[in-house]
This record gives sequence, C-alpha cells and structure tokens, in this order.
Amino acid sequence: MTLDWMALEELLAGAGASRYGGEAISQLEHALQSAECAERDGASASLITAALLHDVGHLVAGQDDDDLAKGIDDRHEQTGIAALRKLFGEDVLAPIALHVSAKRYLCAAEPGYLAGLSDASRLSLALQGGVMGAAEAGRFARNPHAVAAVALRRWDDEAKVVGKTTPGLAHYLAIARRAARVVAGEAQ
Ligand SMILES: [Fe+2]
Repeated sequence: MTLDWMALEELLAGAGASRYGGEAISQLEHALQSAECAERDGASASLITAALLHDVGHLVAGQDDDDLAKGIDDRHEQTGIAALRKLFGEDVLAPIALHVSAKRYLCAAEPGYLAGLSDASRLSLALQGGVMGAAEAGRFARNPHAVAAVALRRWDDEAKVVGKTTPGLAHYLAIARRAARVVAGEAQ
C-alpha cells in the first residue's frame, strides 16, 4: 500500500482511536509526542517528519500492535517506508527504516539504555533480534543515517507520556509538506 497525502492524513487522524502497543496512549499521541520532541531539540523538517511517521507501518497494517503480545515481529518499519516512498525521500525514510535497529544498537553501545526501556519495548526487543553484537553495532554506527536514527529512537522512547499536550496534527503535517519529496512537475 502506497499512501498519498489524503490517505496519510486520514490514517493519522484515525490513529487517535488505536492504542500504541503495550503503552497507555494512542498511536496519534505517540506520533505527535515524537514529533514534538524532535522539534523541541531543533531537528530538521525531515527528521521531525520521520519522528511523526516512524510507526505509520502499524497503522497501514491496521494493527493495535497486538502482534507483540502474540510474539510476532511485525516488521513495521519496512511496511512504513514502503507506504511513504511516494511522498518522501531518504532523509525521511532512512531514519524510519533504522529506528528498530537503533534500539538494538543502543542496547549494545550505551550502558543503562536497556534497563531504561519500557516493558513493551523490552519485550519487542527480543522479537526484533535482541541486542546487537559488536560487529553489527560497528556496521550500524558507520551508516550515514545512524545519528538521525538514534535521535529518532530517543524521541520514540520519550514519547509515551500519558496526557501530555502537544501541537496538533495540522502543525506537523505542514512541516511534513515542507519535507516532502519534490517531484519535477508535480505540485505538492
Ligand atoms: Fe514508536
């Protein structure tokens, strides 16, 4: 499934009703909180957009994320970038593609990171391949999008606050339009 702008907006607007994994907030709240953390930290429009859309794969697949409870890794980062490829370039897509690997990397590279993860995030880690070994962590660190992916991962981890107020979806969709892929001869 490839999204156009209208489908993307509808998907996100409807995400207020679906729960974010094992956490006590909705998918929409999680997306907006992720984007708000990125904006607070002075991230580029592309990276704010990646933060907003990093879990869109869950929504495309129509999940409330209960695959996790069934012990299945849904590969939502791959579903997400496939859906967004028409609208965005690599500066938005690559951090999304790498945000699960970034968790596995941080568990290997940063003492204390694993212990700080939420229960749901620790449970999914095992399904996603567990903590990276040294060779894989070295390869990850050399990826040109690794720094952006690690930043996105930290906002993802932070964006689980029940009842937090953020700017609304329209604010972040306007930023996403600025980050959109420019296709010759096509109005955005
Ligand atoms: Fe997330």
